[in-house]
Amino acid sequence: MSETAPPIISVQNVTKRFGSFTALENITLDIRPGEIFALLGPSGCGKSTLLRIIAGLETATEGHIMIDGQDMAGIPANKRPVNMVFQSYAVFPHMSVADNVAYGLKLERLPKPEIAAKVEEALAQVHLSDFAHRKPDQLSGGQRQRVALARALVKRPKVLLLDEPLSALDAKLRDAMRLELVKLQESVGVSFVIVTHDQSEALAMADRIAVLEAGRLRQLDTPAGLYKQPVDRFVADFIGSINMFAVIGQHDGATQAETTLETAELGRVRVSSARLPASGQGGLVLAVRPERVKLADAPPESADAIAVAGHLGDVAFQGNSSIAEILLAGGASLAALVSEKEADRLMQAESGSPVTAWWRADDMLILPENALSSGG
Ligand SMILES: Nc1ncnc2c1ncn2[C@@H]1O[C@H](COP(=O)(O)OP(=O)(O)OP(=O)(O)O)[C@@H](O)[C@H]1O
Ligand SMILES: [Mg+2]
Repeated sequence: MSETAPPIISVQNVTKRFGSFTALENITLDIRPGEIFALLGPSGCGKSTLLRIIAGLETATEGHIMIDGQDMAGIPANKRPVNMVFQSYAVFPHMSVADNVAYGLKLERLPKPEIAAKVEEALAQVHLSDFAHRKPDQLSGGQRQRVALARALVKRPKVLLLDEPLSALDAKLRDAMRLELVKLQESVGVSFVIVTHDQSEALAMADRIAVLEAGRLRQLDTPAGLYKQPVDRFVADFIGSINMFAVIGQHDGATQAETTLETAELGRVRVSSARLPASGQGGLVLAVRPERVKLADAPPESADAIAVAGHLGDVAFQGNSSIAEILLAGGASLAALVSEKEADRLMQAESGSPVTAWWRADDMLILPENALSSGG
């Protein structure tokens, strides 16, 4: 992947309206050559619509799509240097694997030997060379998925667009196919744009992720960037799990460098004013990941620790770690990720025993409800 090369796809101020409904609002983003780029967001946020606009299956109401430096306005889907693998990857049941893959090339009336060579190469890329003469109903779900991939790759697109490519597979196969897709992308070297509503899929596969919500781009970053520095409550909540506390009061601190934030669960918390978000709307939340929460019998001495007293709730076993639930006054709870050893100790303890949860102030995020300024 190249960070300095010109983008292979540039989405510029794209808005899409269906009647009075705005499915996409002023989306601008670049996709780099050779990267796996994920469009992530909840159902209905506009992911497939954006992919279809890039593919030329839908037209933007406003804005432009540039592919490899060329404006795609007026260029039909079959003339664009991209290929799409659909949400439900339909393969032709009556055709052999090889004929399925050859189908698009036959439509283009390429010479037979050329078709045969390209089909062979594409089948090798997805490890289906030995299955060329089978019919789709003689294949597993994962193998059928690979036929769909080969059919898209055989046209040598500059970008492969994949709409929920793994959603038709069961959980175990989905995990295996994630790795396979990443390897395939590395070997063919073309950019993949993958649509998914599954954050773990996006985190596992993508070089960069665009998080969409209700037709708007909330954040574009690497998986680690989204996890460590989510721009707002929505992204923090959508990527991984996180404890959040709504800020109900904001007061001046002892000095200008300090601000006191008040939440129902934590009481008053002193934070560095420099850490307050510069923009956003809809109030603030304090947030801390479960793996940053430590458990102790008493509040730590450290001045930069934020501590809250609670009672031990359920401990959910997860293998080499567990999630301990800490019940706070007022009915709230928080989750702490604990080691196998600590989980053993907690499970010996009586449910309801008093416990202090604490974390370092630096490990706590201060986030706006919504990072987008209203209307902008
Ligand atoms: N042709 C259409 N006419 C009217 N509304 C549409 C049309 N296509 C999509 N929409 C609406 O636009 C919004 C975005 O749809 P889209 O298919 O892009 O969502 P998505 O993010 O892919 O969701 P999912 O994860 O469920 O596939 C939805 O509210 C959908 O109902
Ligand atoms: Mg969709």
